[in-house]
Amino acid sequence: VSISIFLSKDTILQALIVRFDGNDITVKSYKVESRITSRFAHTTVKSSVVNSGANAQSIGFNVQIPKRAFINNFTMNVNGITFVGSVKEKTVARNLYAQARARGKAAGIVRYTMETFRTEVHVPPGSKVEFELHYQEMMQRKLGVYQHTLHLQPGRLVPLLQVDVYIFEPKGIKFVTASNTLGEHLSELTKITHTKEKAHIVFKPTLQQQRKCENCTESSVDGEFTVMYDVERESNAGELQVSDGHFVQFFAPSDLSPLSKNIVFVIDVSGSMWGLKMKQTVEAMKAILDDLSMDDYFSIIDFNHNVRCWNEDLVQASSIQANEAKKYIQSIKPNGGTNINEALLRAVQMLVRASNQGLTDPRSVSMIILVSDGDPTVGEIKLNTIQKNVKRVMTEEFSLYSLGIGFDVDFDFLERIAMDNRGIAQRINANHDAADQLKTFYSQVSSPLLRTISINFPENAVNNVTQNRFDKFFHGSELIVAGKLQPSDFTTLQSITTASANMDLNIQTEADIHGLDSVLSTHQHSFTGFARQMWAYITVNQLLAERSLASTANKKRRITQRIMALAVEHQFVTPFTAMLVEGHDQGRAERLIADSPRDSRHGCCSATVPLSGPQTVKQLLYSKPPWIQPTNAPTQEASGKLESTAITIGVTINGQLVGSKKMKNNKIDTYFGTISIYSKTHGVQAVVGTNRIDLMEGRNNHSFSWGATAELVLNRMRVTIVKEAHVTVTVDGKISVMVLLHRVWKKHPIQVDFLGIYMSNANKYSTQVHGLIGQFAKEPEVKLYGVHEGADPKKKEATMEVKGNKLAVTRGWQKDYRRDKKRGSDVYCWFIHNSGKGFIDGSYTSYILPQLDSFLTSI
Ligand SMILES: *[C@@H]1O[C@H](CO)[C@@H](O)[C@H](O)[C@H]1NC(C)=O
Ligand SMILES: *[C@@H]1O[C@H](CO)[C@@H](O)[C@H](O)[C@H]1NC(C)=O
Ligand SMILES: *[C@@H]1O[C@H](CO)[C@@H](O)[C@H](O)[C@H]1NC(C)=O
Repeated sequence: VSISIFLSKDTILQALIVRFDGNDITVKSYKVESRITSRFAHTTVKSSVVNSGANAQSIGFNVQIPKRAFINNFTMNVNGITFVGSVKEKTVARNLYAQARARGKAAGIVRYTMETFRTEVHVPPGSKVEFELHYQEMMQRKLGVYQHTLHLQPGRLVPLLQVDVYIFEPKGIKFVTASNTLGEHLSELTKITHTKEKAHIVFKPTLQQQRKCENCTESSVDGEFTVMYDVERESNAGELQVSDGHFVQFFAPSDLSPLSKNIVFVIDVSGSMWGLKMKQTVEAMKAILDDLSMDDYFSIIDFNHNVRCWNEDLVQASSIQANEAKKYIQSIKPNGGTNINEALLRAVQMLVRASNQGLTDPRSVSMIILVSDGDPTVGEIKLNTIQKNVKRVMTEEFSLYSLGIGFDVDFDFLERIAMDNRGIAQRINANHDAADQLKTFYSQVSSPLLRTISINFPENAVNNVTQNRFDKFFHGSELIVAGKLQPSDFTTLQSITTASANMDLNIQTEADIHGLDSVLSTHQHSFTGFARQMWAYITVNQLLAERSLASTANKKRRITQRIMALAVEHQFVTPFTAMLVEGHDQGRAERLIADSPRDSRHGCCSATVPLSGPQTVKQLLYSKPPWIQPTNAPTQEASGKLESTAITIGVTINGQLVGSKKMKNNKIDTYFGTISIYSKTHGVQAVVGTNRIDLMEGRNNHSFSWGATAELVLNRMRVTIVKEAHVTVTVDGKISVMVLLHRVWKKHPIQVDFLGIYMSNANKYSTQVHGLIGQFAKEPEVKLYGVHEGADPKKKEATMEVKGNKLAVTRGWQKDYRRDKKRGSDVYCWFIHNSGKGFIDGSYTSYILPQLDSFLTSI
């Protein structure tokens, strides 16, 4: 038996391929199973193969590892001998390899091909080989979707072919769909079962169904199988989960209006862009320019050996300007060299100028989007120097995103320079699809919702917290922070998320420390221990990114040590660890090791030593080339609060009534269903409903739920939400209104959820205050006399003299729910009849407005 492993530096596709090489090979079974729990996926690929030919031959097991996945186990069984994998530090593995070679026992091939992991076993006829590969990966939310892709390419008909994807999401699954690029008749075979928190996706075509045509021997199972889903988010606070001594906080608010943006597009128009690449870039830019809104500012820089600007300064993204820009781009004829350094410096200068001239809104987001297909050839060409130059002129407010088209560009450089400047990089395949890839990338960064996000935990409750400060949050994405719990008696963990955007916000999230583990243990296909692996996954990726930006060899070394320790503990194959697969032959352990080349980034290396017989192959090693995951560097910046110069402030409070579901005693009870608090002076409005709290300013509209305690500050309006209890709206620190939420049983036959409104006694009103509430800001003089038994013996009656009118009033009581929300406390009152006639100014009908945001003009 000889075993070879081909290693790959996966660069683009996020897919899994299982494919078998060899001629007279029977693939008995082929199973892929993914368990996804809280966005963390553990995938197992299992296959059983027989050499059904007359001669010894090689059987290949090819797996494509998703770009962001870490392999964490590989086992193989050859004719009853099991080879078990374990992750070791690379140097340890290398030594073992050297020892084995010295004894003439070692064999293995490590080769970097484009994006395949291959294992090859040379076996005699009749041999049975079973492969099992495990890898783990965190799902990243993009444009509102988690996507899990498996690439199915068995290359032949398989009697037992099955794909199972199990999803468990504690907060609930919003939707789940599956799609594939396999034969048309196979699309309908996917079965999805879906409850609130769980989904099971099965794809199990029979041998007959796998055939390309009725009597063909070719398989139509050849392509991608993708599962897409999103989770429920009942509030903007995110989701905090605790399991197995670790915690994970997910933060993905929606229903916030995007911040406006200032973009400089920096486009490579060197000779190599000529043809398809430029055509696709122009097509993408046309769509992107159409997508800009009137609040956005932009310009375009195109460069080859020269640097040209479409416009020297940022311009407002009106449709006229966008059309001009489109014409400009279309007219470009790519030629010449590549001067990235100069182009980027010009782009930064342009943003700095716009900011200094006060052209851009201080609350807006400024970014540079670089599109390039090659390494610099003109001007500064040293990559490190370019990176330093850009970093030096960049301010903390700007981000750089880089897109690399094709494979002639040093993608690691693009990734480093983006990461160094709070951005991310993406590779674009230079094909007919390139325009769509560019547009998709752009949509991921086109809607920034928040800036300067910080997710914090009580210091004595946690440690080893992963990056918890983020520069921006984009619509449809997700921020994730993980860490370890410190031993304590606490039963809950709390986090506080602060961010600034069009407003400042501060949101609390809570989690029960033991709840999730007991839930997970009852679900058969959940991935227990997900939080522990997820924490390690994030930490290792962060360290890899930190390492690539580390300035000294010493720092790099220290980071490498930490990566190795974590990767060995959590069994991740990283650029610094490798997997050793060991087998035992009659109690005698022998080794077969294959190692990856020292400089894994380039080229290909191979080392094969043929082995004498099936029993001598004992160990093999798998390792993965480096890759880095972008992270945003933490920043600290001031929020853009506007100071009000007004002395008196105009606040309007309106309420909208809702009726009960059914009549009671022949009448419909009415309650407050929505309360609007509008500050004319500041142009901000809070609309408190029973389902939602909306904050509005101009065209901006931000929604929050009652599901989380939060504090929001929007242009002198402070809104404090106490989870499922009450909201206090304070305008300019002067006028304060509390709105209490009364929830009734959802299926209550009559009652509906309603609101109560309470004005603070400390409010200071001007003499112009009016309206149903305002006219009593100064309590009117009231005289009461003639108290007597009423028609109802429990309710006394009397006469009230107020505002010169004599009114018949009845004694009763009203509930004050401020202290005791369930039962309320009784407050005794005199009730005025005839809709307050004589007590309120004018008739009650004068207080009825056409709309919630109308103003009371005259009484
Ligand atoms: C497939 O094979 C069967 C049996 O040999 C035959 O009857 C049938 O016509 C074939 N179908 C096609 C489409 O060739
Ligand atoms: C504010 O946003 C919510 C949800 O996004 C929407 O339902 C509501 O109608 C919006 N309100 C206004 C006034 O635009
Ligand atoms: C976790 O934190 C502790 C205390 O700060 C530190 O000693 C330890 O090295 C950290 N562990 C890892 C894996 O970072």
